[in-house]
Amino acid sequence: MNSYIMSSPAFNLKKIVVVFIIFLCSGNVFGQADTTHKLDRKWWKEAVVYQIYPRSFKDNNGDGIGDLKGIISKLDYIKSLGVDVVWLNPIYSSPNDDNGYDVSDYRNIMSDFGTMGDFNVMLKGLHDRGIKLVMDLVVNHSSDEHEWFKQSRSSRTNPYREYYHWWNAENGKPPYRYSLFDVNHDAWRYDTLTNAYYLHYFSRKQPDLNWENPKVRQEVINIMKFWADKGIDGFRMDAFQYAAKDTTFPAFPQGFEKNFTQYYGMVTGLHGYLQQINKEVLSKYNVMTVAEGAGNTYEDAHNMVDADRHELNMAYAFDGVNIAKSSGYSLLEFKQVFSKWDSVFADKGWLSIFLANHDQARLVSRYGNDSPEFREISSKMLSTFLMTMRGTPYYYNGDELGMSNPGFTKIEDYRDVSLLNEYHHQLNIGGSIPDFLKEAQFSSRDNSRTPFQWDSSTNAGFTTGTPWIKVNANYKTINVATEEKDKNSCLNYFRKLTKLRKENLVLVYGKYTLLDKDNPKVYAYTRELDGKKMLIVLNFTNTIAEVKTGYDLSTAKLILSNYEGSGSDKGKLLPYQAIIYQLQ
Ligand code: GLC
Ligand code: CA
Repeated sequence: MNSYIMSSPAFNLKKIVVVFIIFLCSGNVFGQADTTHKLDRKWWKEAVVYQIYPRSFKDNNGDGIGDLKGIISKLDYIKSLGVDVVWLNPIYSSPNDDNGYDVSDYRNIMSDFGTMGDFNVMLKGLHDRGIKLVMDLVVNHSSDEHEWFKQSRSSRTNPYREYYHWWNAENGKPPYRYSLFDVNHDAWRYDTLTNAYYLHYFSRKQPDLNWENPKVRQEVINIMKFWADKGIDGFRMDAFQYAAKDTTFPAFPQGFEKNFTQYYGMVTGLHGYLQQINKEVLSKYNVMTVAEGAGNTYEDAHNMVDADRHELNMAYAFDGVNIAKSSGYSLLEFKQVFSKWDSVFADKGWLSIFLANHDQARLVSRYGNDSPEFREISSKMLSTFLMTMRGTPYYYNGDELGMSNPGFTKIEDYRDVSLLNEYHHQLNIGGSIPDFLKEAQFSSRDNSRTPFQWDSSTNAGFTTGTPWIKVNANYKTINVATEEKDKNSCLNYFRKLTKLRKENLVLVYGKYTLLDKDNPKVYAYTRELDGKKMLIVLNFTNTIAEVKTGYDLSTAKLILSNYEGSGSDKGKLLPYQAIIYQLQ
């Protein structure tokens, strides 16, 4: 092409026309690209995470314990939910003091759960269905049966000694440290073999790793690479905010020794460890990361997840999930907490949205109403909330069925190490056991760990053997098979929600605005993006409630309601009614 043609007016005109046509054709794409840039779109922001508690999901071999083959047999079910990511609680080799959160070999599968072959099949099965897998990474501590700890214990001069925190007994008793799971709440355990104490923030069988030791960090980095190379898509960093410690172990101010998050979390050094992990592993793979907990302040949370810091992807803050107490909770506080977190993360950083997990009792029993009359409707209302907030929803298995607390009355029904140790603690200090059991019925972690309810056959179709923990007595009515058949079931409603979220980017990224702020019964908010606006109104009570949104609902388009086909009559909401409108 010679310079004449290049500069001829005719050519220039053609060029302009071509450019214009490209511009027109790409109208949407262009707009999207622009938006994309603004939004910093990421797959892990747009995903719905479904958490599977493997021990209780599906037992394949009749030993009463859920396993990987069980999960494999239910992959189509998982796909049918419309979720994008599975977060699996730990499946590594473990003596199971804390259901897998005490790892004895990070590169192997717990024998209860199956083999590495099963794992590979499961991972491929998920990927074939377009679902990603996030694994729990438990490296604040290991099991005391891990080879590292066995070596470390064996003598003061063993090369692995510095993998853990030891305090030689000739130096007296170490300054008090609180243990969350210990019978005596004492995080220092005396070991006669070397006349020294070791540190365990959780149970005695979960000694804390010494992150100051570069060898420990290298071990973890290698473990992460091992799993990332296998093709997993992310890590959930268990209890990681406690990983850094001031290893001089100063005494804490009197009266504050048990102030766990404040004094034990986010100790200097932590960000450096995260940056090292990011540099050496995370930056090299397309993986997502989430830390359990978000520190003590909004600043802590930002410091862990802001993109320019190169640490983790999203914060998982406990403020919301901690609100519900056996005495109830205030919706005003609930709204305030979620609104505040949203505003603090409006411009930078990214949040997880959740109200339940394997460490909490059931969603509907804590935040809704599990009476026969309102269980279904309130469960759907809560799901509506989780799926319409800004952030990545983490949805716990069984909540899509509206599973509720089992109401255990006897200590023999419980399995959780933290609960059993606390029970012994209460016995030791002469605490009231009836009060303790009553509280456990509401808040125990075992409430959410009962077997997944597949159908109305014996043991809810979870196992042909004896389940490791009792099945909830309500399984005959609350189960997948029954709910599949009912188009208005919790299960089918949840599917509508995941689909809606997928089809509406506004629900993922859209600006959140709280409405009718002081309404003690109704949570109402809008989500807004690129000229599209949705209004969500949620009645959190068992009575009719009024809401003043300031919008004319008679012209709003009804998108979804948990009372089939019904919008709100002049701002009046039925008990636990949830409605999603499109305003623009
Ligand atoms: C985290 C886990 C919990 C476990 C603890 C110790 O909090 O979510 O289940 O018991 O860490 O690993
Ligand atoms: Ca099994």
